Amino acid sequence: MSAVVIEKSTTLREGAFGNAKALSCRECGHHVELGPHYACPECFGPLEIAYDFGTVTREQIEAGPRNIWRYKALLPVPDDIETSPNTEPGFTRLLKADNLAAELGIANLWVKDDSTNPTNSFKDRVVACALSAARELGAKVFACPSTGNLANAVAAAGARAGIKTVVFIPRNLEQPKQVNSAVFTESLVAVNGNYDDVNKLASEIAGEEDGWAFVNVNVRPFYAEGSKTLGYEIAEQLGWRLPDQIVIPVASGSQLTKVHKAFQELIRLGLVEDRPYKVFGAQAEGCSPVSVAYKAGVDAIRPVKPDTIAKSLAIGNPADGIYVLDICRQTGGAVEDVTDDQVREGIVLLARTEGIFTETAGGTTIAVLRKLVETGQLDPDLETVAINTGHGLKTLDAISGSVGPAATIDPTYAAFAATGLGG
Ligand SMILES: Cc1ncc(COP(=O)(O)O)c(C=O)c1O
Ligand SMILES: [Zn+2]
Repeated sequence: MSAVVIEKSTTLREGAFGNAKALSCRECGHHVELGPHYACPECFGPLEIAYDFGTVTREQIEAGPRNIWRYKALLPVPDDIETSPNTEPGFTRLLKADNLAAELGIANLWVKDDSTNPTNSFKDRVVACALSAARELGAKVFACPSTGNLANAVAAAGARAGIKTVVFIPRNLEQPKQVNSAVFTESLVAVNGNYDDVNKLASEIAGEEDGWAFVNVNVRPFYAEGSKTLGYEIAEQLGWRLPDQIVIPVASGSQLTKVHKAFQELIRLGLVEDRPYKVFGAQAEGCSPVSVAYKAGVDAIRPVKPDTIAKSLAIGNPADGIYVLDICRQTGGAVEDVTDDQVREGIVLLARTEGIFTETAGGTTIAVLRKLVETGQLDPDLETVAINTGHGLKTLDAISGSVGPAATIDPTYAAFAATGLGG
């Protein structure tokens, strides 16, 4: 086999990428052999994985483990993926959110709660797929530029797999996200700049250093496929059917495009009924290049300098932004944005209605869901899923000024009674 590897002494084994057959350009359709490539040699368009699935059945999937590897036939991973150490993310709860639904005036609402993954965000899914590719391609270093959650996931997965990790973040990141990386790796690098600066630096390092797999740069096509598992799980947990509407936060836009890809694959494979669904994207106003383009009715995305408490979504130049626009428009959805105050309200609303503590990205999603209902863009009578992609304990600062003790009292009944909280 002639496929390109990251480390030259590595020989690619048969079946290293499962049913994946090639990398295919999303713009011109040109095919490239599987390897650490991400841009089309013909037109510089982004590459994605093309498959030859054969037959995949519900029974086959249901017999698999309760993690993302139950979908291994649909991912660019080898058939023996369960035997190599990884964090085994996925199969998180799909909760019927009746209290939140009542609050928002929605008839039928579900929250896909990805905050319970091993490092408390959906990024464990993409990283597990990237780790498999890095291993198969012979990488010596597992790395990423990150807005926080990805660095946590890369550092933890690398520790478990016994591969050296180096993770790069903007210096101004939330302290808990820094600690959640540094606890797993000696090589957390804080960069003077925003995410887009960190991303540029990572591309430069990937070009200079041998043997490095940057999960979202040179193995991005493999990494991105991990987000499809969110779509597969939602469909399976609904009893093998698609929801009518889904709301997904957007930073680079990769997750949203891959959930849509997952739904399309399930339809093509005959695993769910082919019926229309609407995809909605959620951004914070302080970093909303995709929703600005959506509202202006244009196809081009103008990069912005992020300024929002939703730091995990603070990508000013989103790689998959144009595809998000396409998908939301084609399916009849929309892209909407909310203020930082609304993000905070979204966090508290989800916590007080459903007992789920989400981070700022989830606060953005819930606040956008509310705004979509209020503005008539989302049909409250249709079945809706909102994805909670991360955990609130990582962004405590965002709401520590908004919630706290209702009273501070002496340890006496009289003092308690005086608060009016009894009864
Ligand atoms: C918690 C959380 N939600 C959503 C996203 C957005 O993901 P994407 O870049 O695939 O749009 C991120 C990205 O870092 C994230 O950390
Ligand atoms: Zn191309």
